[in-house]
Amino acid sequence: MPIHIAVGMQWGDEGKGRVVDLLSADAAIVCRYNGGDNAGHTVTVGKKTFKLHLIPSGIIHSHTIGILGGGMVINPLTLLDEMNALKLSGIELSPRRLYISPLAHLITPAHRLLDQAEDEARGKGAIGTTGRGIGPTYIDKAARRGLRAGEILEPESFRVKVKQHFKLVDRQLQSLFHKEPLDVESMTAEWVAAASKLAPYIQDATTLLHDAVRSGDTVLAEGAQGTLLDLDYGTYPFVTSSNTTATGIFSGLALGIMPVDRIIGITKAFQTRVGAGPFPTELSGELAARLRGTGANPWDEYGTTTGRPRRVGWLDMVLLRYAVMINGVNELCITKLDILSGLPEIHICTSYKLDGRECEILPMGLLPEQMNAARPVYETLPGWKENITAVRAWKDLPKSAQDYIRQLEMLSGVHVSMISVGPERDQVIRLD
Ligand code: GDP
Ligand code: IMO
Ligand code: MG
Repeated sequence: MPIHIAVGMQWGDEGKGRVVDLLSADAAIVCRYNGGDNAGHTVTVGKKTFKLHLIPSGIIHSHTIGILGGGMVINPLTLLDEMNALKLSGIELSPRRLYISPLAHLITPAHRLLDQAEDEARGKGAIGTTGRGIGPTYIDKAARRGLRAGEILEPESFRVKVKQHFKLVDRQLQSLFHKEPLDVESMTAEWVAAASKLAPYIQDATTLLHDAVRSGDTVLAEGAQGTLLDLDYGTYPFVTSSNTTATGIFSGLALGIMPVDRIIGITKAFQTRVGAGPFPTELSGELAARLRGTGANPWDEYGTTTGRPRRVGWLDMVLLRYAVMINGVNELCITKLDILSGLPEIHICTSYKLDGRECEILPMGLLPEQMNAARPVYETLPGWKENITAVRAWKDLPKSAQDYIRQLEMLSGVHVSMISVGPERDQVIRLD
């Protein structure tokens, strides 16, 4: 069955958008199945840079159809902005090629205010959410009071429900967080008017998806965030509120349980995290500043969505083995290998010392305080001096860079099919 899944192996920002853009060359349908505009994917094609938050990155290829699946949470305001920006860049976005599932839940400005107020109130225990309203929207979904995209198509009842929603959040904001009252009437009118613009795109794509799979067309599902931010299997509670792992595709797209050809795990050649939570191989000082970059380059480690500096560290195989296992990954794509050029030596964390024991794979359900106490055990490899951004063939990589990749394959048990050496579409080394 021609289903391909691209999934992040770390805490997000692995370069999924950039890799999905490459994989989409062979896909007929590209889909998002989880999360919302907390995601930020940068794709560079020639002189154009695209920033995508909600629309699948594969939409940049003109032959694809894009689906925003039922497992997503969608902010109509940011989606409309994104659609406009893409249209201005020359991307065609008619309802013929963009489908929004009627089951997807809607994020309102009130959800965003609640998200920000809740995280602020956590004080030292803050998660460092993106403030995009993701958590409160998934809470409303689970509490069975959420607003679904399909409701936009029934304007009268939709307006009533939206007003009830704003009133409820207004009460919560005032009583729990001592915020100023909301102007419920005008917020309702403005937001409903904006959300209604999406009506032509709200169309069920389930049959389209199943027909495509039956007829042998490739369906590419792109995960947002990363495995370690998964609500169940991530570093809870410092996670997002959706299932980011590959299994999320089946519920998020109503695909049923189907065989999947490729599960492509995407990982940076080092580790990053934005937001709070355990990070055993985190670096500080000069080395961290060197890996993060100053912010002068667009690919430096500052969040696409929030602009926050990302925390950085050495590649962690304890976490990578775990991510490979729980996603069923059968190939790896390594991004940002170019960033390691010039380091005299490179460390890889091969195991943790945990409670006096050596552990090679993340134990399920490890508490944050236990993970904070883990002591990484490192293997040291020689670095390379050469700039590798122009390399396109394996044989042209410096020997030490080849050794690093081979070691990574050996330690993860999965073969590497692609190595990215820059943000541009063609800056890639294909190994298959
Ligand atoms: P995503 O959320 O997983 O799609 O990743 P982001 O787009 O948030 O962050 C990855 C950043 O790294 C973007 O600015 C990409 O353009 C950039 N990038 C991706 N792959 C490479 C690479 O191999 N080398 C360099 N230098 N930059 C890359
Ligand atoms: P992409 O798709 C990196 C992080 C936030 C925070 C936690 C919860 O670009 O890889 P949320 O707003 O989801 O409730 O925040 O998750 N986070 C991401 N970190 N990349 C992302 O997406 C992220 N989406 C959420 O920083 O720690
Ligand atoms: Mg990102």
